[in-house]
Amino acid sequence: MIRLEDVRKCYGRQCVLEGIRWHVPPGALVAVMGSSGSGKSTLLNLVGAMDLPDDGRIVVDGEEISAYKDAQRTLYRRRKVGFVFQAFNLLPHITVFENIELPLLLNGIGDGGGRVRELIGLVGLADKEAAPPFELSGGEQQRVAIARALIHDPAIVLADEPTGNLDRRTGQAVMELIASIARERRKTVVLVTHDPAVARFAETTFELKDGMLHS
Ligand SMILES: Nc1ncnc2c1ncn2[C@@H]1O[C@H](COP(=O)(O)OP(=O)(O)OP(=O)(O)O)[C@@H](O)[C@H]1O
Ligand SMILES: [Mg+2]
Repeated sequence: MIRLEDVRKCYGRQCVLEGIRWHVPPGALVAVMGSSGSGKSTLLNLVGAMDLPDDGRIVVDGEEISAYKDAQRTLYRRRKVGFVFQAFNLLPHITVFENIELPLLLNGIGDGGGRVRELIGLVGLADKEAAPPFELSGGEQQRVAIARALIHDPAIVLADEPTGNLDRRTGQAVMELIASIARERRKTVVLVTHDPAVARFAETTFELKDGMLHS
């Protein structure tokens, strides 16, 4: 469960978020839409503890993450959250397998090949596991990023324009994958998108406008 209580975020004199109240129930798949510059990534980064609000509280599963110290925020990000970005953000010169394994290594969890292979199979890339990401298509790279976001079994998946660099058909396929995994594995997913066809995969859509979130 994610709860925002009167969250404000300003950059200098410009306030991007003006007192957001928001509740995302566990296991929900929600979309946040809004024009460029409306603060969608800012909102997602706050939920992912990549950044701190200027005011208000962010509570995740009963823990006030906005009051965490740096070290706790790092652990929260590593253990509890999986990120999927528009630009995939894979390490280009290690293999697909190693990219997906990375969050396990950061968490000090051994794998033995089992979990990584299972997720590689789930995203349909068994024949590419030894390839470096730069040899993959955009859709394949985003599937690697989805597997990497899920490998440590996070409760929350944050996806910022996950289809933004993909053609329409590939984007739909990537969204089907995210939605089906979210449902089966009971992940809470917050999806940021410009595209109504992508937002349709969400159960609820919110719009960010003038610093406020509307349902
Ligand atoms: N680190 C920063 N320093 C200063 N201003 C920032 C910073 N990050 C974001 N902003 C400003 O905050 C506003 C919201 O940015 P944000 O990236 O959240 O928008 P967005 O809705 O994700 O836009 P887009 O759809 O283009 O990705 C913008 O005006 C941006 O310039
Ligand atoms: Mg953005």
